[in-house]
Amino acid sequence: MNEPDVLNHFKKILHDQLPGAGVSIQSLPRANPLKLALIDPAFDDSCLSQDVQNKLMDDPPYWIFCWASGYALAELILKEQIDVSNKVVVDFGAGGGAGAIAAALAGASKVYACDIDPVGNEVLALNALINKVSIEIVDDLAKADGVDLLIAADVLYERANYHFLDLFLTAAPDIVVADSRLKSMPNENYTLVETVNTTSFPDFNEALEFNEVKFYRNT
Ligand SMILES: C[S@@+](CC[C@H](N)C(=O)[O-])C[C@H]1O[C@@H](n2cnc3c(N)ncnc32)[C@H](O)[C@@H]1O
Repeated sequence: MNEPDVLNHFKKILHDQLPGAGVSIQSLPRANPLKLALIDPAFDDSCLSQDVQNKLMDDPPYWIFCWASGYALAELILKEQIDVSNKVVVDFGAGGGAGAIAAALAGASKVYACDIDPVGNEVLALNALINKVSIEIVDDLAKADGVDLLIAADVLYERANYHFLDLFLTAAPDIVVADSRLKSMPNENYTLVETVNTTSFPDFNEALEFNEVKFYRNT
């Protein structure tokens, strides 16, 4: 399949959840040279029917955006403020793969992307190709071997996910969690190290409070 066919393929997959939404390859200005296949910013979501909105809530296609935390994480990795060089890195809850691909571009020796969304993982494979990097995609963190650094962005969006924080401690000696949802960190093994203001990309006008991305590291 060539590039337009691939993008059309994902547009068709999206059709049921977001009729009329296009998918295009977009450059992320704060995370140069990262490019990702993302929802077309021209899409007008203001007149989605209740039925469509319900379907979206049931099974959100997370990969259509680079979430604010993934964007901020990719930015700090590419600016070498988070050191990934020669490290085995796993991006947990990778979505479209902003963190994973940034790590590969910034010199990680091996990168895993871990996500349970099969369509998202297909998009991530395309995004790796677009950025000319090699990423091993896994659907279970246990399949990532010899990890030096675990990164995770915007995976704590519901309380039921807080147990990930304990799981991470068993998977890697170094952990960076980027999050725009938590009011306060629910796990005493993590310390706030930095805050970055950004939006999702494309910007879907989330509440301003979700534009503040907090970075935590294990202590
Ligand atoms: C809000 S999205 C964030 C995506 C990406 N990190 C970013 O910042 O753009 C959360 C992601 O976590 C993934 N996820 C949820 N539960 C998971 C699990 N148990 N294992 C791996 N990934 C999971 C979802 O499929 C989704 O892709």
